[in-house]
Amino acid sequence: MSVELERAAALLDEGPPYARRRTFAIISHPDAGKTTLTEKLLLFGGAIREAGAVKGRKARRHATSDWMEIEKQRGISVTSTVLQFDYRGCRLNLLDTPGHEDFSEDTYRTLAAADSAVMLIDAAKGVEPQTIKLFEVCRMRGIPIFTFVNKLDRHGKDPFELMEEIERVLGIRSCPITWPIGMGPDFQGIYHRMDGRFERFTSRTEDMESIDVPDLGDPSLAEVLGEPLWRKLQEDIELLDVAGDPFDPDLVRQGRLTPMYFGSAIANFGVAAFLESFIRFAPPPGPRETVDGRVHPGDPAFTGFVFKIQANMNPAHRDRVAFVRICSGKFERGMTVAHVRTGKRISLSQPQQFFGQERETVDEAYAGDIIGIHDPGLFRIGDTLAERGQVAFPPLPSFSPEHFARVSVPNAMKYKQFHKGIAELSEEGAIQVFRQANRTEDLILGAVGQLQFDVFVYRMKAEYGVDVDMVRLPYQFARWLDSKDPVDNLQFDRYATLVVRDRDERTVLLFQTEFAMQWLLDKNPNVRLHKTSLELVASQGRAEE
Ligand code: G4P
Repeated sequence: MSVELERAAALLDEGPPYARRRTFAIISHPDAGKTTLTEKLLLFGGAIREAGAVKGRKARRHATSDWMEIEKQRGISVTSTVLQFDYRGCRLNLLDTPGHEDFSEDTYRTLAAADSAVMLIDAAKGVEPQTIKLFEVCRMRGIPIFTFVNKLDRHGKDPFELMEEIERVLGIRSCPITWPIGMGPDFQGIYHRMDGRFERFTSRTEDMESIDVPDLGDPSLAEVLGEPLWRKLQEDIELLDVAGDPFDPDLVRQGRLTPMYFGSAIANFGVAAFLESFIRFAPPPGPRETVDGRVHPGDPAFTGFVFKIQANMNPAHRDRVAFVRICSGKFERGMTVAHVRTGKRISLSQPQQFFGQERETVDEAYAGDIIGIHDPGLFRIGDTLAERGQVAFPPLPSFSPEHFARVSVPNAMKYKQFHKGIAELSEEGAIQVFRQANRTEDLILGAVGQLQFDVFVYRMKAEYGVDVDMVRLPYQFARWLDSKDPVDNLQFDRYATLVVRDRDERTVLLFQTEFAMQWLLDKNPNVRLHKTSLELVASQGRAEE
């Protein structure tokens, strides 16, 4: 196995700048330890410089990557942020994703900007519901997944049982790169299968001890581990060597085999071993499909796409940032690029990168990097930026809203801020806005998760100074209408269906029940319904061809 390591290390040293980028996200169920692991990774990378940046429990719980007040109140991470750090000549771009399922849409878009994912599992809980959902998103994108089993300092499931669970529930084979010796109070450390080394568990990083073990049968190891654990380690490793999957970088790249690591994030144990291996085997940026071709990360011309928009990142400045994932070429500060959707030329004069709450101006960046650019209200999620030519990346998938509410502003003096807030927050993609033909004074909001409404109300107040009235509506489905006949000529249940328009003036039907939706389809056989506006546009495009 060590030959693999050497080859990967050589590539890391020699490659062009993009080959030294690793752009990834951590996926996990809440409480698995994502915040803790993120902080330890940042510490390794030196991105958190003073110990004070990692605050006491309450503050830390919300990670340095969180900045929104509501996240602090609720103890959940609702927005995705980007954190960058360097480790051993490699630049790591860590895309933070919200763990709460109500924000799966945001997570989905963030994963579109990632080249790999780290699946974090609590050793005691195994594969949990949110892990499964996020894993599915990664699988759809076909990105490699690395597994870190956390909390070995506590008693948890047997590691073979965890491997079996990962295969049974997620349908992916695993290959342990490190292997735990004991757990909970008996946790002794990890054995590095690739380079035959034992790392003794200690909760103090400075006391970390690493012992070369060329031969697991060496009885001196029994003195270190105790006889029973030494015997068990020999049996375990033999079983893995004989019956386990061999490490195959191609299968890892295809997302069919997950390299597996064990440790304790809170004790900062096993994290370095993971990071060392991760930078070697996680893929650098690869080619990306465009609407009519492909771009390669080494292509000289800059291309990138907007995967996230965030308003009011800094309340003092009231600014809006579009996050761009670079797909090819070299980015240089002040360069002029085409905003492909509108055909406008724009100058990227104040690009930024993010280190927790700190931002720094970027002078240059390469494929794989994420830059934040000032958004004067021009960008939409999925927009392509290109230095030359008419490149366009395919649109990012959007989800169909399942929760609806009527929203209005009781104070007429606040009308302007109300509309500004709605426009900006909908451009972030957190909520979708609909209008009814004859009612201009209020709007209908659609969201994928209920919590998005709470965040919306909070942010309208905190960031735009507007108290809004919200009334939940009983609709459950939004469908974009695909029909030659105008909606007024169609037959449908007018009590259980509401006709609205989206921001591009497309007709959307909100249904209270599946029955009402089916009824419309039965009565109007020429009508088709689409779950999102993207689906509608794609279908109309195919019809024209
Ligand atoms: P999340 O972002 O995935 O939601 O998880 P977070 O890091 O906030 O960790 C959730 C809880 O698990 C925290 O405990 C944290 O301290 C604990 N934890 C994280 N990694 C480990 C580990 O390796 N071993 C053990 N034993 N615990 C771990 P908490 O009680 O909610 O907070 P705290 O009082 O410990 O800070």
